[in-house]
Amino acid sequence: MSYLLHIDVSPQAESSCSRKLAAAFVDAYKKSHDGVTIVHRDLAANPILHLDSEALNAAYVLEADRSESMAAKHKLRLDLIKEITEAKAVIISTPMYNWNIPSALKAYIDQIIMPGELDPYTKKGLEGKPVTFFIVRQTHIPPQKF
Ligand SMILES: Cc1cc2nc3c(=O)[nH]c(=O)nc-3n(C[C@H](O)[C@H](O)[C@H](O)COP(=O)(O)O)c2cc1C
Repeated sequence: MSYLLHIDVSPQAESSCSRKLAAAFVDAYKKSHDGVTIVHRDLAANPILHLDSEALNAAYVLEADRSESMAAKHKLRLDLIKEITEAKAVIISTPMYNWNIPSALKAYIDQIIMPGELDPYTKKGLEGKPVTFFIVRQTHIPPQKF
């Protein structure tokens, strides 16, 4: 199935600027890609767990030696990797929080980067994939005031 993966991060709903931009992008994308499927991942409504010891270590433990909980956490990571690598294109909308991405998006990135499955060296599953970012921030906030 060919699909656009649409990831939203802002915890704001109707008032979110980044979500509005992404929605406009997705509308335009649908108009120019007849019949395209949109897979929507909402990291605010359905937060991704931060990597914990079980999730991290599962990648280095034989399948037979994984506990049930380890196996479930490992499967989540593989499912997320599959979702993004099989997407035809990706659109990510996010606010800037404290001069960085929100922790919800960082948690997602930490989950999908796994040596041997999706990494910048051996398994470059995102190489060549069009990824569009809408990063929204407040203007006119001098850093020293934080
Ligand atoms: C917790 C928090 C931290 C923020 N940090 C920054 C920042 O470091 N720099 C900035 O320019 N704007 C900052 N902002 C402003 C947001 O980026 C801005 O309100 C943006 O519109 C939020 O995106 P959204 O409308 O999609 O939720 C921050 C807002 C919040 C709530």
